[in-house]
Amino acid sequence: MIIEERFRRSNTNNTKKMEVVKSVAEKRRKRNTALPNEIITLTNVCKAYSTGAPALKDVNLHINRGEFVFIVGDSGSGKSTLIKLLLRELTITSGHINVMGYDLARIRHRKIPKFRRNLGIVFQDFRLLKDRNVYDNVAFAQRIIQKSNKEIKKNVPSILAIVGLAGKYKAKPKQLSGGEQQRVALARALVNKPTVLLADEPTGNLDPKNSWEIMKLLEQINESGTTVIVVTHNREIVNAMQKRVVTLKKGVIVSDEEKGGYIDED
Ligand SMILES: Nc1ncnc2c1ncn2[C@@H]1O[C@H](COP(=O)(O)OP(=O)(O)OP(=O)(O)O)[C@@H](O)[C@H]1O
Ligand SMILES: [Mg+2]
Repeated sequence: MIIEERFRRSNTNNTKKMEVVKSVAEKRRKRNTALPNEIITLTNVCKAYSTGAPALKDVNLHINRGEFVFIVGDSGSGKSTLIKLLLRELTITSGHINVMGYDLARIRHRKIPKFRRNLGIVFQDFRLLKDRNVYDNVAFAQRIIQKSNKEIKKNVPSILAIVGLAGKYKAKPKQLSGGEQQRVALARALVNKPTVLLADEPTGNLDPKNSWEIMKLLEQINESGTTVIVVTHNREIVNAMQKRVVTLKKGVIVSDEEKGGYIDED
């Protein structure tokens, strides 16, 4: 075969190959609308409980890797529902939801623990194990994902130092203040180095000083690369921190502002 002919054939093959590659990419894109940098994608999400009006209506939300996002809104506006959908405690009624590459409407039950390994979760009421000390509360999160004792002994003291509790590792939750308990909960959420941290009113039970400390820790964690999503009613903190603010009203996103503030209800 003359050289020109070989070139011609190989070019035709390459063109065919490129077409196949393109069509695979196109199919993937259609299946999963998330862009590579996008870590959370909600498209036309509705969530209705068995009773009452829908808690979320036609929600569209895109969050990039490494963002810090406040979710605010009146009581009953759907904030906790949104958090529960993101951690797949609840399933959507319609629409699409993708978190860290997982299609949460389709994820198989046996895959949920693996999905949650990359999530850190903090609640208003701390949810610590009452009969275990600070160290064991945090170590527990590592044991669940089968970390070795050697790793646990390294990771737990280091995360407790970050949240400022190195000296209290032997204390039981009832021997700690509310702010300290929340810092244990935060250490527990962070020890597995989550990609995304979800916090539902983490300062809801704290005084202003402790609230600021927790928010500063969340900011620090975000600066180290974790995507952080925080539900809060704390107007002063939201206005001061100048982060992205998503406002929900009766299950609808009514505003989504870069460097936003707390929108006053009229
Ligand atoms: N398990 C449930 N069954 C039925 N309705 C529910 C359930 N959980 C929440 N809702 C309803 O869904 C709506 C949104 O509730 P959600 O808990 O998401 O609000 P929220 O914004 O977190 O409020 P808050 O600021 O008080 O925590 C409310 O009208 C609530 O009554
Ligand atoms: Mg709530």
